[in-house]
Amino acid sequence: MSPIGADISAGIGTRFLTIEDGSALIDLYRQIAIQPAGFIRASDEITTEFIDRIIRRSQSGGVGIAAFEVETGKLVGAIHARRLGVKACQHVLKGLTIGVSPDFQTRGIGRRLFFDFLEHIQMNRPDILRIELSARDSQPRQIEFYESVGFRREGYFENRIRNPNGEFEAEVAMAWIRRED
Ligand SMILES: CC(C)(COP(=O)(O)OP(=O)(O)OC[C@H]1O[C@@H](n2cnc3c(N)ncnc32)[C@H](O)[C@@H]1OP(=O)(O)O)[C@@H](O)C(=O)NCCC(=O)NCCS
Repeated sequence: MSPIGADISAGIGTRFLTIEDGSALIDLYRQIAIQPAGFIRASDEITTEFIDRIIRRSQSGGVGIAAFEVETGKLVGAIHARRLGVKACQHVLKGLTIGVSPDFQTRGIGRRLFFDFLEHIQMNRPDILRIELSARDSQPRQIEFYESVGFRREGYFENRIRNPNGEFEAEVAMAWIRRED
């Protein structure tokens, strides 16, 4: 079993995402989406159906982990990825997304979520050999963060994202590969 939920240092615990997290996850992701360096998806695109799909996909072949404040039980962060539907790509998780509540950012919760997510996969999901995420070219600290937890840059999609001010930016494709050493 992974250490999920076992380490409650700094008053933050982690556990698997469940369908009951739906409405709290909508609120959390809408708060993050209105931040300048938040999600690519706009807050009005964070719908009940979208969140429901995230949780269901993380439960059926994917992985989804929630971070919560131990004292209140409040959801303060999440990380999740889904499995591809094609037989030839059953070893791949794609669309890794991580979000931490604006009030709780820069306290180590994002790093903790990545650690628990990757540890769970290393220990309990030998079927997963590759995990994919997309980063924004305008967020070099985030890209460095992903590199620090084991992801590598694989591609550069010029003008992939159009920001609300009309300017384009590139999307950086990154991946984690299981290494047996
Ligand atoms: C990216 C994010 C998940 C990091 O979570 P966090 O809890 O704030 O991160 P941590 O405190 O664990 O810090 C981890 C790393 O994030 C980076 N980071 C921290 N603060 C940052 C900031 N203000 N801006 C950019 N990167 C930052 C640093 O590299 C940091 O590593 P360090 O502590 O060794 O310097 C969080 O900022 C977030 O939710 N952002 C909005 C949503 C988003 O952009 N998600 C990614 C796309 S799916």
